Amino acid sequence: MQVLKHFFDNNKNWAATIKKSDPDFFSKLANQQRPEYLWIGCADSRVPANEIVNMLPGEIFVHRNIANVVVHTDLNCLSVIQYAVEVLKVKHIIVCGHYDCGGITAALENSEHGLIDNWLRHIKDVYRFHQEEIDAQPSEKKRLDRLCELNVIEQVANVCHTTMVQNAWKSGQGLAVHGWIYRVSDGILRDLNVCTTGIQDIPLVQRIA
Ligand code: CO
Repeated sequence: MQVLKHFFDNNKNWAATIKKSDPDFFSKLANQQRPEYLWIGCADSRVPANEIVNMLPGEIFVHRNIANVVVHTDLNCLSVIQYAVEVLKVKHIIVCGHYDCGGITAALENSEHGLIDNWLRHIKDVYRFHQEEIDAQPSEKKRLDRLCELNVIEQVANVCHTTMVQNAWKSGQGLAVHGWIYRVSDGILRDLNVCTTGIQDIPLVQRIA
Protein backbone atom coordinates (compact mmCIF):
# COMPACT_ATOMS: atom_id res chain seq x y z
CA MET A 1 0.00 0.00 0.00
CA GLN A 2 1.39 3.36 -0.99
CA VAL A 3 0.84 6.01 1.62
CA LEU A 4 -0.59 9.32 0.29
CA LYS A 5 -1.05 7.70 -3.12
CA HIS A 6 -2.84 10.78 -4.52
CA PHE A 7 0.40 12.78 -4.09
CA PHE A 8 2.20 10.41 -6.45
CA ASP A 9 -0.71 10.37 -8.89
CA ASN A 10 -0.86 14.17 -8.89
CA ASN A 11 2.89 14.35 -9.42
CA LYS A 12 2.77 12.03 -12.46
CA ASN A 13 -0.01 14.10 -14.01
CA TRP A 14 1.83 17.35 -13.29
CA ALA A 15 5.11 16.10 -14.80
CA ALA A 16 3.26 14.80 -17.87
CA THR A 17 1.54 18.15 -18.40
CA ILE A 18 4.83 20.05 -18.26
CA LYS A 19 6.55 17.54 -20.57
CA LYS A 20 3.73 17.91 -23.05
CA SER A 21 4.45 21.64 -23.50
CA ASP A 22 8.25 21.24 -23.22
CA PRO A 23 9.59 17.67 -23.68
CA ASP A 24 13.11 18.67 -22.51
CA PHE A 25 11.98 20.66 -19.48
CA PHE A 26 13.16 18.25 -16.78
CA SER A 27 16.33 17.12 -18.52
CA LYS A 28 17.39 20.78 -18.95
CA LEU A 29 16.67 21.45 -15.25
CA ALA A 30 18.69 18.42 -14.19
CA ASN A 31 21.86 19.95 -15.63
CA GLN A 32 21.84 23.05 -13.48
CA GLN A 33 19.74 25.60 -11.66
CA ARG A 34 20.18 29.24 -12.56
CA PRO A 35 17.47 31.19 -10.74
CA GLU A 36 17.72 34.96 -10.70
CA TYR A 37 15.59 35.33 -7.58
CA LEU A 38 15.84 34.39 -3.93
CA TRP A 39 12.47 34.40 -2.20
CA ILE A 40 12.31 34.67 1.59
CA GLY A 41 8.70 34.11 2.58
CA CYS A 42 6.36 32.82 5.24
CA ALA A 43 5.86 29.07 5.67
CA ASP A 44 2.09 29.64 5.49
CA SER A 45 0.53 27.08 3.10
CA ARG A 46 -1.51 29.84 1.43
CA VAL A 47 1.60 31.70 0.21
CA PRO A 48 3.51 29.28 -2.05
CA ALA A 49 6.29 31.26 -3.75
CA ASN A 50 6.26 29.83 -7.27
CA GLU A 51 2.51 29.56 -7.61
CA ILE A 52 1.56 33.12 -6.69
CA VAL A 53 3.96 34.59 -9.27
CA ASN A 54 3.26 31.86 -11.80
CA MET A 55 6.84 30.63 -12.11
CA LEU A 56 8.16 27.18 -12.93
CA PRO A 57 10.67 25.00 -11.08
CA GLY A 58 14.17 26.41 -11.56
CA GLU A 59 13.14 30.05 -11.51
CA ILE A 60 13.10 30.92 -7.79
CA PHE A 61 15.40 29.83 -4.96
CA VAL A 62 13.19 29.68 -1.87
CA HIS A 63 13.57 29.97 1.89
CA ARG A 64 10.48 30.01 4.08
CA ASN A 65 9.96 30.18 7.81
CA ILE A 66 7.28 31.40 10.17
CA ALA A 67 6.59 35.09 9.49
CA ASN A 68 9.48 35.49 6.96
CA VAL A 69 12.03 36.52 9.55
CA VAL A 70 15.73 37.06 8.78
CA VAL A 71 17.64 36.65 12.05
CA HIS A 72 21.31 37.65 12.28
CA THR A 73 22.23 34.32 13.90
CA ASP A 74 19.98 31.94 11.96
CA LEU A 75 22.50 29.73 10.14
CA ASN A 76 19.74 28.21 8.04
CA CYS A 77 18.59 31.50 6.51
CA LEU A 78 22.13 32.94 6.34
CA SER A 79 23.36 29.84 4.49
CA VAL A 80 20.55 30.19 1.98
CA ILE A 81 21.46 33.85 1.42
CA GLN A 82 25.15 33.00 1.06
CA TYR A 83 24.51 30.24 -1.47
CA ALA A 84 22.03 32.35 -3.42
CA VAL A 85 24.30 35.40 -3.58
CA GLU A 86 27.76 33.85 -3.89
CA VAL A 87 27.11 30.70 -5.91
CA LEU A 88 23.85 31.21 -7.79
CA LYS A 89 24.53 34.95 -8.09
CA VAL A 90 20.85 35.87 -7.92
CA LYS A 91 20.05 39.39 -9.04
CA HIS A 92 17.14 39.93 -6.67
CA ILE A 93 16.29 38.96 -3.10
CA ILE A 94 12.60 39.27 -2.30
CA VAL A 95 11.32 39.31 1.26
CA CYS A 96 7.62 38.57 0.92
CA GLY A 97 5.28 38.80 3.88
CA HIS A 98 1.52 38.48 3.92
CA TYR A 99 -1.46 39.96 5.71
CA ASP A 100 -3.32 37.73 8.20
CA CYS A 101 0.00 36.10 9.13
CA GLY A 102 -0.52 33.77 12.09
CA GLY A 103 3.00 34.45 13.34
CA ILE A 104 2.41 38.19 13.40
CA THR A 105 -0.95 37.78 15.13
CA ALA A 106 0.57 35.46 17.74
CA ALA A 107 3.40 37.93 18.36
CA LEU A 108 0.92 40.65 19.30
CA GLU A 109 -0.86 38.39 21.79
CA ASN A 110 0.07 37.87 25.41
CA SER A 111 -0.74 34.15 25.50
CA GLU A 112 1.87 31.41 25.64
CA HIS A 113 2.41 29.35 22.47
CA GLY A 114 5.34 27.17 23.56
CA LEU A 115 8.73 27.02 21.89
CA ILE A 116 7.65 29.27 19.04
CA ASP A 117 7.42 32.22 21.44
CA ASN A 118 11.21 32.43 21.22
CA TRP A 119 10.98 32.88 17.44
CA LEU A 120 8.11 35.37 17.77
CA ARG A 121 10.30 37.53 20.00
CA HIS A 122 11.89 38.83 16.80
CA ILE A 123 8.50 40.13 15.73
CA LYS A 124 7.83 41.60 19.14
CA ASP A 125 11.11 43.49 18.57
CA VAL A 126 9.73 44.88 15.31
CA TYR A 127 6.65 46.01 17.24
CA ARG A 128 8.88 47.65 19.86
CA PHE A 129 10.82 49.57 17.15
CA HIS A 130 7.57 50.93 15.67
CA GLN A 131 5.22 50.85 18.65
CA GLU A 132 4.02 54.43 18.28
CA GLU A 133 3.08 54.04 14.63
CA ILE A 134 1.39 50.68 15.12
CA ASP A 135 -0.59 51.78 18.17
CA ALA A 136 -1.78 54.86 16.25
CA GLN A 137 -3.64 52.65 13.75
CA PRO A 138 -7.45 53.02 13.97
CA SER A 139 -8.32 49.32 14.45
CA GLU A 140 -6.84 46.02 15.58
CA LYS A 141 -6.89 44.78 11.97
CA LYS A 142 -4.98 47.86 10.79
CA ARG A 143 -2.45 47.39 13.63
CA LEU A 144 -1.85 43.81 12.51
CA ASP A 145 -1.65 44.80 8.83
CA ARG A 146 0.89 47.52 9.60
CA LEU A 147 3.00 45.14 11.70
CA CYS A 148 2.96 42.67 8.78
CA GLU A 149 4.29 45.46 6.52
CA LEU A 150 6.86 46.78 9.01
CA ASN A 151 8.09 43.25 9.65
CA VAL A 152 8.87 42.89 5.93
CA ILE A 153 10.64 46.26 5.90
CA GLU A 154 12.77 45.26 8.93
CA GLN A 155 13.68 41.93 7.34
CA VAL A 156 14.72 43.68 4.12
CA ALA A 157 17.10 45.73 6.27
CA ASN A 158 18.37 42.58 7.97
CA VAL A 159 19.13 41.03 4.56
CA CYS A 160 20.97 44.18 3.48
CA HIS A 161 23.06 44.24 6.65
CA THR A 162 24.49 40.75 6.10
CA THR A 163 28.15 40.49 5.11
CA MET A 164 27.17 38.45 2.04
CA VAL A 165 24.97 41.15 0.55
CA GLN A 166 27.38 43.96 1.40
CA ASN A 167 30.31 42.02 -0.07
CA ALA A 168 28.33 41.43 -3.26
CA TRP A 169 27.71 45.17 -3.55
CA LYS A 170 31.38 45.93 -2.81
CA SER A 171 32.50 43.64 -5.61
CA GLY A 172 30.14 45.34 -8.05
CA GLN A 173 27.63 42.48 -8.25
CA GLY A 174 24.19 43.82 -9.14
CA LEU A 175 21.81 42.84 -6.37
CA ALA A 176 18.48 44.38 -5.40
CA VAL A 177 16.63 43.56 -2.20
CA HIS A 178 12.85 43.99 -2.32
CA GLY A 179 10.03 44.03 0.24
CA TRP A 180 6.65 42.78 -0.91
CA ILE A 181 3.42 41.81 0.80
CA TYR A 182 0.70 39.44 -0.33
CA ARG A 183 -2.96 39.46 0.63
CA VAL A 184 -4.33 35.96 1.05
CA SER A 185 -7.94 37.18 0.68
CA ASP A 186 -7.48 38.62 -2.83
CA GLY A 187 -4.38 36.82 -4.14
CA ILE A 188 -2.65 40.12 -4.93
CA LEU A 189 1.00 40.97 -4.33
CA ARG A 190 1.96 44.55 -3.40
CA ASP A 191 5.34 46.26 -3.51
CA LEU A 192 6.25 48.05 -0.26
CA ASN A 193 8.72 50.23 -2.21
CA VAL A 194 11.75 49.64 -0.03
CA CYS A 195 13.99 48.32 -2.81
CA THR A 196 17.63 48.56 -1.72
CA THR A 197 20.40 48.29 -4.31
CA GLY A 198 23.63 49.38 -2.68
CA ILE A 199 25.59 50.26 0.43
CA GLN A 200 24.59 53.93 0.05
CA ASP A 201 21.02 52.93 0.97
CA ILE A 202 21.86 51.52 4.41
CA PRO A 203 22.65 53.34 7.67
CA LEU A 204 26.30 54.16 8.33
CA VAL A 205 26.47 52.05 11.49
CA GLN A 206 25.48 48.92 9.53
CA ARG A 207 28.08 49.36 6.80
CA ILE A 208 31.03 46.99 6.82
CA ALA A 209 34.02 48.78 5.37
CO1 CO B 1 2.59 33.98 7.82
